[in-house]
Parts: sequence; structure tokens; C-alpha cells
Amino acid sequence: MKSRIAVLPGDGIGPEVTAEGVRLLEAVGRKYGHTFHFQEAPVGGIAIDTHGVALPPESLRVAQDSDAVLFGAVGGPKWDDPRAKVRPEDAILGIRKELDLFANLRPVQVFPELIDASPLKPSVLKGVDFVVVRELTGGLYFGKPKRRWETGTGRRRGVDTMAYTEEQIVRVLRVGFELALGRRKKLTSVDKANVLESSRLWRELAVEVASEYPDVELEHLLVDTVAMQLVRTPARFDVLVTENTFGDILTDEAAVIAGSMGMLASASLAAIPGAGERAFGLYEPIHGSAPDIAGKGIANPLAMILSAALLLRYSLGLEAEAAAVETAVTRALADGYRCADIASEGDRPVGTREMADLIISLV
Ligand code: IPM
Ligand code: MG
Repeated sequence: MKSRIAVLPGDGIGPEVTAEGVRLLEAVGRKYGHTFHFQEAPVGGIAIDTHGVALPPESLRVAQDSDAVLFGAVGGPKWDDPRAKVRPEDAILGIRKELDLFANLRPVQVFPELIDASPLKPSVLKGVDFVVVRELTGGLYFGKPKRRWETGTGRRRGVDTMAYTEEQIVRVLRVGFELALGRRKKLTSVDKANVLESSRLWRELAVEVASEYPDVELEHLLVDTVAMQLVRTPARFDVLVTENTFGDILTDEAAVIAGSMGMLASASLAAIPGAGERAFGLYEPIHGSAPDIAGKGIANPLAMILSAALLLRYSLGLEAEAAAVETAVTRALADGYRCADIASEGDRPVGTREMADLIISLV
């Protein structure tokens, strides 16, 4: 198979981990007989410095012309001024909107070897394996009106709008149902229907779509309840589906379960992943640019490597290859290899390159 992959490394540790993601995909290509063409383009702070904007049109075009996008991370103290007209984050928000990447999948599982890396009790973590489906192109992030102004009395006001259309809600709900079908067939729809109108619509539509998926058990939970259940009984969840802001907050919380942000991958899809079908998508580790450790060669590449596995699965339809990468990660951890973020006392942590080499040798 021949595929075009856009590579957008970004800032901080983005370039270091993205380079390892590319090396891993090259190794998978060699081993399984696929040709991947990589095209790199600047996004984020580095693009602000060189092009004056976080998402240069040419970078967007590279992404649009590809079969899938591998994305590092954007942001850093250099571009943090709250009054700045352009921000590194514009790159990721812009690309989500422009490419219509409406479904963000964030799988959370506990590798038994890393159970001590989490501040939660081992008894709570046992058997945790769920995926959060976060709506990614609507809600407070993009709803209009969205602005700041001065009132007549010289006081400042700001407004964001949590707006959703039926189409936006239904398509992301379907992603949740489809994923649940391929898993333990349990879907938790997360909303704030006791207060928000958009949530009441969400819940109503969840019930309607559920009639098309009689094999999936649907439950509704309020987002505040889920925030609690995630740290109390996370093993009860299979697939969760929720709106943009709720998903943003819940997935950072969920990262604690996996022991480190350095372990969590994500896929942002522009289509509903059906059996054997390919969806255009963007794949990124959720850890961000981590400027404090950038350039030191110690960043954990596993979140990027696991994101590359999701790319193989969802955008290229290469399930066996994806599973081989995931198995390699499990084996490296079982053999005792750890990067600094997941090392316990007495471990000798391996660096970014060394960890990636190990996974490459195991795929
Ligand atoms: C995430 C991040 C982004 C978001 C930021 C960087 C804009 O927190 O992907 O979760 O809020 O969506
Ligand atoms: Mg976030």
C-alpha cells in the first residue's frame, strides 16, 4: 500500500517524538511492504516565527492532500502572551475545524506494569480499558457569539456560546456506538442535561440513535458524576461520548489513570470508523509540548508511537500492523523499559531514541 502522511511536528518536544513516530512507521512499512510518503510542514509557535501565523495555508494544504496527519504538539512560553494576536493553539483548533475532525478518540488503558506510576490505588485501576469520544469541532470552542467588549460603564464582558446542531451531535454519537459495537458494547453518554439546553438535545438524540444499535447498552451520566466515577470506579466504563469542553476536561483527568500523559495517544477523525473502512484523521499524543524537557532527549515517545498505531488502524486500515505496534509497546514495558516520566525508584530510565529503537526492534 502507498500512503501520504503529513508530518506536523510543532514545538517543544513535538519534533523529538514526531521523529520517532516517523521512524516507527518507516520500520512498519519496510517490514509489512508498504510505502509511506512523509511531507513535513511547520505549525504552532515555530510557524508564527517563520510565517507570522500558527497554521500557514501551505501547511494546511499539506494536511489536506494527505491520507493522514501525524501531529506533534504546539505552544511554549515564548508565545504565551495573553494579548498576542496569534497563538500556537490556533494551529490545532484551525486544523480541527478546517479538516472537519469532529471525533476525537482518546483510549485509556492501564498497563499492569505501570500501575504504580498512577497516584490511584491499584485496586481502583485493575481492568481499566475505556475510550473517550470527544466532540471536537463544536460547543464552547467554536460557538458564536464569541467575543469580548466593553459595556457602557467601561466594564469588560466576555461571552462564549455552547451551541450544537442535531447533525453535529448525531455523527459523534454514532462514532461512540460504532466503537462500542467492536468492544464491550457499553456506551456512556455524558452531558449536563439537568442544566444545559444543548445537553437536553444531546440526551434526546442519544436515545434516538440508540434504536439503531440494539446490541449496545446506553447509559446517560451527568458530567460531574463522570468526573467522580473516573477516579472512583474507572473500570466500569467502556466507551464514553461527550461534547467538546467536557471531553477536554475529562480526558486530562483520565490521563492520571494511565500513569502519565506520556502514554496517551489520540485520533481525531473526519468520518465514522466503520468495519474495515478508512477515515481521514489526525493523530497526536495528548501530552503537549512540554517545553521544560524539550531538546533533552528524555521525552516519552510511547504516546506518539501509540498514536501512529491508531493512524495505521483508522486511516490506513492496517489492523495487523497497528496491533503489532501496540503489542511491541506492551512487551517493552513488560521487559522493564521505562522513560523518565513512568520510571519508579531504582529504574534506569531510557531516553526517547532508545525507547523508540526498542519498539522498532519488536514490531
Ligand atoms: C487538548 C488541548 C487543546 C484543547 C488545547 C491545546 C487547545 O487541551 O487537545 O485537549 O483544549 O482541545
Ligand atoms: Mg486538553
